[in-house]
Amino acid sequence: MIRAEEFARRRLRLMEEAGEQAMVVLAAAPEAIRNGDSHYPYRQDSDFFYLTGFAEPDAVLVLLPGREKAQQLMFCRERNPERERWDGPRLGLEGAREQLGMDDAFPIEDLDEILPGLMEGCERIYHLVGKDLQLDQRIIGWRNRLRAAHKGERGPGELVSLEHLLHEQRLIKSRDELRCMNKAARISATAMTRAMRRCQAGASEADLMAELLHEYHRHSCQPAYQPIVAGGDNALVLHYIANNRALPDDGLVLIDAGCEFQGYAADISRTFPVSGRFSPAQRELYDLVLAAQNAAIDQVRPGRPFEAYHEAAVRTLTAGLIELGLLSGDLDQLIENQTYRRFYMHKTGHWLGLDVHDVGDYRLEGQSRVLEKNMVVTVEPGLYIGYEDDIPEQWRGIGIRIEDDIRVTGDEPENLTRSVPRLADEIEAVMR
Ligand code: GLY
Ligand code: MN
Ligand code: MN
Repeated sequence: MIRAEEFARRRLRLMEEAGEQAMVVLAAAPEAIRNGDSHYPYRQDSDFFYLTGFAEPDAVLVLLPGREKAQQLMFCRERNPERERWDGPRLGLEGAREQLGMDDAFPIEDLDEILPGLMEGCERIYHLVGKDLQLDQRIIGWRNRLRAAHKGERGPGELVSLEHLLHEQRLIKSRDELRCMNKAARISATAMTRAMRRCQAGASEADLMAELLHEYHRHSCQPAYQPIVAGGDNALVLHYIANNRALPDDGLVLIDAGCEFQGYAADISRTFPVSGRFSPAQRELYDLVLAAQNAAIDQVRPGRPFEAYHEAAVRTLTAGLIELGLLSGDLDQLIENQTYRRFYMHKTGHWLGLDVHDVGDYRLEGQSRVLEKNMVVTVEPGLYIGYEDDIPEQWRGIGIRIEDDIRVTGDEPENLTRSVPRLADEIEAVMR
């Protein structure tokens, strides 16, 4: 659980970095209509949540580091017993002050009225340029109104993207964030193991999907992204989400699924045989992906470039594909020419946090950035073998991915999702 003090610390740090001449503006995610008059389940914007812990729509956070008092303002929905009868409780203005730790709070309807005045004396407006075009327009409108009133002499000249400041902060996880991520990892790991146990000849993708969702919802969690439950060659579609077909008795099933706990995501993939026993060909490819994952995980250490673990996976996979006869030629040349991309077309991982593909630059000044303690990444090599004529029969239609969530520690990588069986023997044992 992230406490109000931590959200407050994050705001203070951001204000310090933005400087006294700045105004910071961030909006809550809008509600989204699914169809007719029903909505998608509401999910707060990750940046807004990171700074406030506030889960309601129709809210705008304004930070004014240069002010003596009232630096942190929330515009949000007022209490309204009639609406709350239908939609549930609202925090309201008093709640925003008391529970979120805001210096002051105003009705969201007053934003247009109040905001231009708040801009006076600011030189720069930080916001997430391009994220919410309506907000972008409103900010420009407020600024123009203020400048017109003062013949262009007052009001902020610069609109600056908040991305860099905020996302650098989100990249390194605090102790309490890591607690949430561990919890998401544990629930997701149990769900994945349940799906393995449930799997048998005659089961469908939907049966396994139901196991995952049951475990998430039991803990009041949501999927962190649309789960992938792909039987047989459905695994060759990287973003397969139909999850409604029968499983092939003698094939593999690839599951890529994780839940979020208090907004923090887990992201796990496992691939296992529907029958509970790998065929020799399936096992050979599986062990190759596993070897690539081990080589990659070993690179997730402080001081190593982010790129290093992808390179380690690519090298292991390419060497293995040569040995299996699926690629031929010189190892370095095949890597250099990216020939392996025919069978391995995605990257080996990404930052993980409030977003499953979390924020933060991967490159700094043209170079792969160096890993630091308490960054969390996924390590997810795979192989996807198509049906082309030049591919020997036994490999055709096999798709495999193994994905774990790894924390950069002071030295040895820490696997947050290690409790899910990963070795072929372990998987077979759990499925028996
Ligand atoms: N589940 C999305 C990913 O693995 O990146
Ligand atoms: Mn994944
Ligand atoms: Mn991933």
